[in-house]
Amino acid sequence: MLWVSLILLSSFNYYVVDSEPNVPIVITTWGFSNATVKAWEVLKEGGTALDAVEQGASVCEVQQCDGTVGYGGSPDENGETTLDALIMDGRTMNVGAVAALRRIKSAISVARHVLEHTKHSFLAGELATQFAVQMGFREESLTTAHSKQLWLKWHNENHCQPNFWMGVKPDPTKQCGPYHEIKKSSFRDTQPEVHMIVDRYNHDTIGMVAVDSNGDVAAGTSTNGAKYKIPGRVGDSPIPGAGAYADNEVGGAAATGDGDIMLRFLPSFLAVEEMRRGASPTDAAQTAVKRIAARYPDFMGAVIALTKTGQYGAACHGIPTFPFVVQDKTRNMFEVITIKC
Ligand SMILES: *[C@@H]1O[C@H](CO)[C@@H](O)[C@H](O)[C@H]1NC(C)=O
Repeated sequence: MLWVSLILLSSFNYYVVDSEPNVPIVITTWGFSNATVKAWEVLKEGGTALDAVEQGASVCEVQQCDGTVGYGGSPDENGETTLDALIMDGRTMNVGAVAALRRIKSAISVARHVLEHTKHSFLAGELATQFAVQMGFREESLTTAHSKQLWLKWHNENHCQPNFWMGVKPDPTKQCGPYHEIKKSSFRDTQPEVHMIVDRYNHDTIGMVAVDSNGDVAAGTSTNGAKYKIPGRVGDSPIPGAGAYADNEVGGAAATGDGDIMLRFLPSFLAVEEMRRGASPTDAAQTAVKRIAARYPDFMGAVIALTKTGQYGAACHGIPTFPFVVQDKTRNMFEVITIKC
């Protein structure tokens, strides 16, 4: 009898040591450590992954992380800052998203309200603002002295360079708009390939993936989009499967970078599907990035991936290195992990 229970005990121990999931855990794109710290505070107190992602990303919206998240950054061609955000619940596969949100600072919280207080998934533009106001959010200008300065320099000193127009007149590589269409046959031969100017301060997005102590997965993003974008432009960040994706059966992923290109490949969805069929998070992220690079060798971007059991990884392309932040219970504080691209 004693012999039997010893065997059971040791096999049980073996099971626990080998398979105990490393949760809760949160991973975040770039060096956005303050957001990660906030998300971890939520998770370690037993909070939900959804709350962790919302509250974590909200820190970046308030702190204007890198000038690429939140108010007062990335003015569009009219000088206005608009926000895109997504939150996805891997438990229910429910999504809340907003795009081109005007005059409301807390984009990911508005997205959370879309998730929880509507049967829709995605609201856009001025009408998303009306929804937010109904939900009690305060309407205020997202323009700051800094964003106004950026826009004035772009418009007055740099003659609206860079911009995102092609096949229009006057020549968008030299002059400001308004632009008019050139008939296709004549511009095909003459227009150069568009090269986006994407770097740390013009990519970007906070993307965050978390698993809570319950094993529930959530992912989200928040961004003010591309600098000097054409008003109305929406990038990858708020698009489910592009900017982020979460599925309790597998894990989650988030992407950052050249959003106009990345959203065509649904890299976060692809990374999750790769993990579903057994790929490690690093390999899954690599596959998603390589799928894009095969068609757009000059694109710049990165994907982070996390399994429901707390394994994580990342891959990047078009920049020398890419940092992401991890916090779990094996660490006393967050860790910034930098990978080579
Ligand atoms: C974190 O927040 C503090 C202020 O609370 C700020 O001084 C610091 O620069 C932030 N760190 C990062 C990496 O943004």
